[in-house]
Amino acid sequence: MGNHTYFLETFGCQMNILDSQLVEGQLRAHGMNPVADYRDAGVILFNTCSVREHAEHKVISRLGRLRSFKRDNPDTIIGVIGCMAEREKEGVFAKAPHVDLLCGPGELNALPALIDEVRRRNERVTALAGSLSRRTEVLQRALEYDSLEALNLSRTPDLEGEVLQSYIRVQRGCDKFCTYCVVPFTRGAERSRPATHIVDEAVMLAERGCREITLLGQTVNSYVHQQGGRAVPFARLLERVSDVAGIDRIRFVTSYPADWDEDIFRVMRDHPRVMPYLHIPAQSGSDRMLRGMKRGYTVASYLELMDTARKYVPDIALAGDMIVGFCGESEADFRATVELARRVEYQNLFVFKYSPRPGTKADRNMTDDIPESVKQTRCNELLAVQAEIGAALRQRYVGRTVEVLVEGYSKLTRKARGHGKSELRTRGKSSHAMGRSRSATEQSASGNADRSAFANPQASEQERSSVAANVVPQSAPGETAQLLGRTRHDVIVLFDAPPAYRGALVTVQVESATPHTLFGRVIEVGSPPLAVKPRHDRGGVSLPVAPNAAVVSD
Ligand code: 5AD
Ligand code: SF4
Repeated sequence: MGNHTYFLETFGCQMNILDSQLVEGQLRAHGMNPVADYRDAGVILFNTCSVREHAEHKVISRLGRLRSFKRDNPDTIIGVIGCMAEREKEGVFAKAPHVDLLCGPGELNALPALIDEVRRRNERVTALAGSLSRRTEVLQRALEYDSLEALNLSRTPDLEGEVLQSYIRVQRGCDKFCTYCVVPFTRGAERSRPATHIVDEAVMLAERGCREITLLGQTVNSYVHQQGGRAVPFARLLERVSDVAGIDRIRFVTSYPADWDEDIFRVMRDHPRVMPYLHIPAQSGSDRMLRGMKRGYTVASYLELMDTARKYVPDIALAGDMIVGFCGESEADFRATVELARRVEYQNLFVFKYSPRPGTKADRNMTDDIPESVKQTRCNELLAVQAEIGAALRQRYVGRTVEVLVEGYSKLTRKARGHGKSELRTRGKSSHAMGRSRSATEQSASGNADRSAFANPQASEQERSSVAANVVPQSAPGETAQLLGRTRHDVIVLFDAPPAYRGALVTVQVESATPHTLFGRVIEVGSPPLAVKPRHDRGGVSLPVAPNAAVVSD
């Protein structure tokens, strides 16, 4: 075990995945190296999620398993970072006394220093915003903002390996306070980053071979940044990022229906590099539930927005989230949710059972009165309906040609080549240790066909960046293998082609479809793959690729 090694496991959303990448960049810049097995690590870190209780339980259970390990290896530092650290604060120590370090999502810039401090002082260290991130002194807020921005700006893509797809944060925190949601408490107030910083980051990534960028924000369309006395709204930001040479595809998640500005649709219509894909959660199809959730829109206005989306971008793919079993949800309310899912025809729908979160308005003022068994039944039913809708949508692709960005090997190929599921699986403990999928009950009906690290369908949004850093496949000349890519609508396509196509935009003739996946044949290679791009196009980087952090979505 080395003092200068770390093991990092990530739970939760895209924001956490990005945070983990930035943290890894910092740790590596401080001379630390990742290891695939926590038993070899000098520092074990969990980047945690609080959005549902289940996600927190997973972390507590991981920590529980480390108790005896810590007793035998007292010098190994164990850290809990991210949302759960912020929400539970010192409560984490009560549940897991062997934890040495707590660091909230707003303080991650300080992590290398915190690790040093634990070593030097040999005592626990915490860095939490606490209540400071909200209702706080202007100065404190500015300091915190600088710390977050410093983390964003510290990005070192050279250390990320060959990045084909990447996240860029455009906004942090959330001011919406939906009654069920813990995010405004863990990630603090909404703050938008300067557009210039975001565009510079896109340029830097493009120079390193990145071809697809996903702009991240909790309510990404609410982005607005004051610059030189003028406000830059999200539509302008999107336009500016779509002007960055080398970036072929731009996506953005997650959108908030009530704040929508039609200008964004105009940009989607007029800028072919902005993908026709919109993740815009409805959360429920019942106005009564939407009021209880304090979402700020009605089912009718949501549907009207979806109609407008289709008016501007007729082939737009829609994705959403739904919560089932929210306080007081009647059978009729649930039926209305199923009805909404049918009417919208989501390509991907993520379904969650309501989980009361301490401190939220719903937890304080409402009753979690829907039995778990009912939540589960409703979850299953909605997923089944969505599976039907998704299958029909994919069937419509058969016979058409689609533009595909080639990401790499399919799961099948990876297995055949012994690439295994995850480099990070712990020795001897396989099933639960480092899974990458959502739990069986809180999952997407978008697709489950191919769950490898290289090709997780959940990664349609969840883990895109974690699949990005991958070795350019080594292959014999003329050899083909089953590869995986995604369409402009974020649908997974499998096809046989030379592995060196990774990173290329190709045209695929779709020949068949399963409920989650398209199968086809490449009929045209539209732009050079990464592997044959001149070195200067990729910023001259050719670095060994680090093992990815394990990612667990709940
Ligand atoms: N219980 C269940 N699902 C939740 N989400 C957020 N908070 C909760 C909760 N307390 C879901 C919402 C959100 C997604 C990221 O997680 O659907 O869009
Ligand atoms: Fe949570 Fe609502 Fe903010 Fe989304 S918009 S992060 S659900 S509070």
